[in-house]
Amino acid sequence: MNLPMKVSRAVWMSVLGLALGAAPACSQGESQPQSQAVAVPVDLQSGEQKFTANCSACHGVGGVGTKQGPPLVHKIYEPNHHGDAAFQRAAANGVQSHHWEFGNMPKIPGVTSSDVDQIVKYVRWLQKQAGIF
Ligand code: HEC
Repeated sequence: MNLPMKVSRAVWMSVLGLALGAAPACSQGESQPQSQAVAVPVDLQSGEQKFTANCSACHGVGGVGTKQGPPLVHKIYEPNHHGDAAFQRAAANGVQSHHWEFGNMPKIPGVTSSDVDQIVKYVRWLQKQAGIF
């Protein structure tokens, strides 16, 4: 009963991944106003680096998601639904799969809680840029 949903979601995610991956190659040097227009503020760049190093393998560069994990730039992860403590818990303890069908998130041993603070600030900024809150 669940399986067809799962397969089609996986297919959709990979199609989406391909489309996103292909986009820069197609933009013949023209700037893309809506995507890369705003540079990451200097004070969020260490959060960005930590996110890219520890989280993006599953949550995607820029938090857009991958076949291994959901986008964090998504309405369900806005501050009112997943506050900053949810990010601390996720990194420290891992996450039992409940919102998606990617499986569980393992705990991420390499990051400290102050690393996660910086990561959260960066993710909140991404969410804000995307108009999520
Ligand atoms: C190995 C893959 C993987 C990595 C690496 C990873 N995550 Fe996740 N993460 C997941 C998956 C899968 C879920 C979705 C679980 C579900 O179905 O709700 C998730 C969910 C979350 C959630 C939602 C928690 C909740 O309460 O629902 C947060 C927040 C999160 N991840 C933050 C992070 C942060 C921050 C990092 C880096 C420090 C990170 N993740 C690294 C796979 C990963």
